[in-house]
Order: sequence, then C-alpha cells, then structure tokens
Amino acid sequence: MSLSPGHRNAGRPGEGRRILLGISAGIAAYKSAHLARLLKQAGHEVRVVMTEGAQAFITPLTLQALTGEPVRTSLLDPEAEAGMGHIELARWADLILVAPATADLMARLAHGHADDLLTTLCLASDAEKVMAPAMNQAMWRQPATVRNAHRLAEDGWRLLGPDSGDQACGDVGPGRMLEPEAILAALDDTAPREAAGLTVVITAGPTREPLDPVRYLSNHSSGKMGFALAAAAAALGARVLLISGPVALPTPAGVERHDVESAREMHDAAHRLARGCDLFIGCAAVADYRAETPAEHKLKKREGEHTLTLRLVKNPDIIASIAARDDRPYVVGFAAETRDLEAYARDKLARKGLDMVVANDVSRAGLGFGADDNAALLVWRDADGTDQRSLPPQPKSQLALAVVRQALARLRAAAPP
Ligand code: CTP
Repeated sequence: MSLSPGHRNAGRPGEGRRILLGISAGIAAYKSAHLARLLKQAGHEVRVVMTEGAQAFITPLTLQALTGEPVRTSLLDPEAEAGMGHIELARWADLILVAPATADLMARLAHGHADDLLTTLCLASDAEKVMAPAMNQAMWRQPATVRNAHRLAEDGWRLLGPDSGDQACGDVGPGRMLEPEAILAALDDTAPREAAGLTVVITAGPTREPLDPVRYLSNHSSGKMGFALAAAAAALGARVLLISGPVALPTPAGVERHDVESAREMHDAAHRLARGCDLFIGCAAVADYRAETPAEHKLKKREGEHTLTLRLVKNPDIIASIAARDDRPYVVGFAAETRDLEAYARDKLARKGLDMVVANDVSRAGLGFGADDNAALLVWRDADGTDQRSLPPQPKSQLALAVVRQALARLRAAAPP
C-alpha cells in the first residue's frame, strides 16, 4: 500500500502492521469478525474500536475473542483509559481501517467531529486511514454522501468499495461492504503487490448501437464483473484503465475510467489504451452487430406496413483485434455459454487467438448476467497445449481476484523475466 509522506509510521515491510479496526453501525458489521480474523491470520496486530450502534449488530466479546485484545467502545471509560488511553491508542496504530463505515460515520469524519471514541481516534491519529463504506444504495447515491466521500478522499482517506449487489434491506445496487478478502488484498503491503508496475486494460458492460437518434440495440450486461476485475487489479497494485459501456456503477477506487457507447468507440479506445499494456481483459458484452446506417431522424411508423427491416453489419471483434497486434499484451476473454462450457471456451481461445478464456455457465440460476455471484471455468494456453481451472460459485469480487491472480501467474509464466 502506498503511504503518503505525511504518515508517521510507514509500514514495516515483512512484518505485521498495527491495525486499529473501527466498526460502525451497519449490518455489514457481522463481516468485520471475519475481517478481524483474516487480518490476524495475515500477521497483523489488531485492536478493535466499536461505535455504540455497532454493538447492536455484533458483540465486543466476539471481537475480543478473535483478536485476543480488549475491545474499546467508549471515550469516557475511566478503566479503559487507565490502560491504554485514547491518545496512546491513536499513536499506537499505523493504520486505521474503518469497516463498515456507515453514511453517518462518513459524514462525521468528513466534518472533523470527535463525538465518540472512533471519530476521536481518527482525528487524533496521523496513521494511514482506510475505510470500507457500507450502506443502503440510495444513501450511497445521495449528493451529501457523494460530497462526504470526495472530502474524505481529499483528506487522505482511501475508500475501498463499496461493492454493488443485493443488500440486506432488499435493495440492489452499490453500497455493499467489500468482502473481507478483498479488503485484505487491498491492504496487503507486506506481500509483494502482485500487479505492481503492470498496466491492465479492461472492457466492461454492454455497448449501445444507435438505430436512430432515440433508439439503440443493446443487451442486459450490468458491467459488474468487469468492474469487479478492475477493482481487483487495482487492489493488487496495477494501473487499471477501465473502458466501460453505459452502466450504473461507481468507478472502483484507483481506477481510470473511460466511458464509451458503441462497439466502434470501445474498439478505438481499446486500441488507444492497450498500447504498451501488459494485460487486456475483454469482459464487455459487445453487440455483435450494428445498424448499417443509423437513421438521421427518428424512425416513424408507416401506415399499412407490419414489418420493419433493419440492415445490420458486423461490429469489429475488439478482443481478437487486440490479440492480433504485434505488441499484443496477455489477452483474457470471456465466454458466456449455456452448455459444453469447456469445448466452447477452447474454441474461443483458438478462434480469437486469446491466451485465456473465462467461461461462465449463464444457464445456472443466481449466477452470471446481472447477478452478484458467479462461477467460472478458466482455460488457457500452455507450452504443452491447454490447461484449465474451475472456480466455484462465489461473490464476483472474490472471483475477480482469483481470475486476475491466475492471469498474472500465466502472464509471468508466459514471459519469464
Ligand atoms: N468480444 C469483443 N468484441 C466483440 C465481441 C466480443 O471484444 N465484437 C469479446 C468479449 O468481450 C468477450 C468475448 O469476446 O471477451 C466473447 O466472445 P463472443 O464471440 O462475443 O462470445 P459469444 O457471444 O458467447 O459468442 P458466440 O457467438 O460464439 O456464442
């Protein structure tokens, strides 16, 4: 993790860090127990501070048992202050990680409040600060929250996520806390950052092919998988350029986003941005065809005619054309299939000249298109032919991390230093 110069304690390479885990009052607090455990397992020292509301979702005792340290909940606790006072605790930490960070906590931190122990510690500490926001999607989209998120980022906070998907309240959209594994991966600076120094270009979402000034051809791609890949690659330290069709998703932290509409715009952006890149992942659901000549004016219904014939022409195959470049990067494509996963994936690998194909079975309920979970079969080229790996159903954020890691491993094997 990069530490800005003002931070007092740079991470100690090869050693665990002193992490103050702040938990605020969101339903995602139940995931913080797993996060605390992962942080401990990764060799970090962990102390937990919970807001009053957080204790309605998970008990301090759970966190105490997992970290082996007393959990602090109150600023005005003479007994706790007699042990490690709050200023001492603020100095002890070399990283403050707030997960989940609710909309209210973000608002208080953005305005420099110190009205409970957690906000006071954040204000009193020079440590590096990271938060994983978690809230209802409408709250996350509110201009006030957007303003607070920007202000916090300006103040030096690093925001991880949020993820998009099913919410505990029944809504669907951005606001879900990143999975603990993804948070850990984003923090992990003791392990060498697997993708540091690499540039990754990713296409995501659908394309829109105009028929006339008000209508278009498109598909149901949500962009979630491509955005999850971008977040994973950024968390692993890569420079990430995300070329996105029209989607309703926030840009993952640390990702450079280029919005496009049509397949041809995506093609041009891909070739412009892929120059000199190391890894290209084509996750977009590119429309295979476009109207040969989009109407200049709105198409009108014609009296007495029951059919309308549109003449479509093929769009360029973006990923195949990237794979055909002389300076080609390692190229990973996606295949959405309903049967014969492996055979179709291998066929696509050969036909498009790809290095790896991530194949999804889109006929499986709750997985794939628009869903938050996905499973995949990875097929790649090897000196000895092809090889493969099956990834079981899991949240797209986790699957994305596994896909990027596998691609990096193959990339390194394909081009040893
Ligand atoms: N792709 C692309 N440009 C296109 C079409 C597809 O870059 N014009 C990429 C996608 O981003 C994805 C892969 O190619 O990585 C999917 O291949 P595609 O041939 O579109 O898959 P299917 O639609 O499943 O193809 P098929 O007609 O073989 O079922």
